[in-house]
Amino acid sequence: MSAQPGAYDEALGRAREHALAWLGSLGTRPVGPRADADTLAELFSGPLPESPTPAASVVDELAALAEPGLMAMPSGRFFGWVIGGTLPAALAADWLVSAWDQNAAMRFATPATAAAEEAAGAWVLDLLGLPSGSDVGFTTGATMANFVGLAAGRQWVLERVGWNVSRDGLSGSPRVRVFVGEERHAVMDLALRYLGLGEPIAVAADAQGRLDPRALAAAMQDGEGPAIVCLQAGNLHSGAFDPMTAAIRVAREHHAWVHVDGAFGLWAAASPTYRGLVAGVERGRLVGDRRAQDPQRAL
Ligand SMILES: Cc1ncc(COP(=O)(O)O)c(C=O)c1O
Repeated sequence: MSAQPGAYDEALGRAREHALAWLGSLGTRPVGPRADADTLAELFSGPLPESPTPAASVVDELAALAEPGLMAMPSGRFFGWVIGGTLPAALAADWLVSAWDQNAAMRFATPATAAAEEAAGAWVLDLLGLPSGSDVGFTTGATMANFVGLAAGRQWVLERVGWNVSRDGLSGSPRVRVFVGEERHAVMDLALRYLGLGEPIAVAADAQGRLDPRALAAAMQDGEGPAIVCLQAGNLHSGAFDPMTAAIRVAREHHAWVHVDGAFGLWAAASPTYRGLVAGVERGRLVGDRRAQDPQRAL
């Protein structure tokens, strides 16, 4: 149960002030944190308070304790990984969503969140040039997005050899061969482990981390059975893209499911300048099209 509406005023006001101070500091503050996690852990710890602390004081205390341990990731001077800053509308909407506090699992119970999600999903498909009927799911990040995509692939390739993984699990199932480039992101291995698919078969990549389609062909030739080919749109270190068209052609020849880790690189599809980097992905995505029952047509 929520507190009385007025009880939020001061705490939210203080959060707004701290947020604006933080955003205002991004242009000039040092990018790196001034204190390490162990030092901060000492400050954050201490005995669990015996009595309540006023809400606004909780916000003030949190802001003061966290301040030296924050990395200026949204700043234009942060060049680590591929993390972007938030946009004003997105940040404000995020606050609103927290205030609404919807358990958005069911369409009938929280229709506004369902509608917003569906609209956002349709826009993403439009931006990325994907078929309007594609399924869309929002995940916590690319690790879980890869997990979900690979789960769909696992289901499909096993179904094609007459194994119902939803009903029968993986015990006793045909082995699924999963091919990845040597320079795939480490979370691919993690997702495959979560899915009980074990270690992937690593295929040689060039100096920029692009999978070599000839090496893929040789590796796929060396064995048979259900197969998944994992491609990468955007290498975290070099920005390079796997050669989609050539690799997908190889996967087709072996009736494999094609999975694309598009963590950040798939956004190239939204840019007229860079969309050539993901050209051919549409041939892979048809592999996952539920409506294409005929594997030859699907591939
Ligand atoms: C290509 C690629 N795949 C997967 C990931 C993992 O993403 P996340 O941290 O959102 O789970 C990253 C992160 O940078 C990435 O660059």
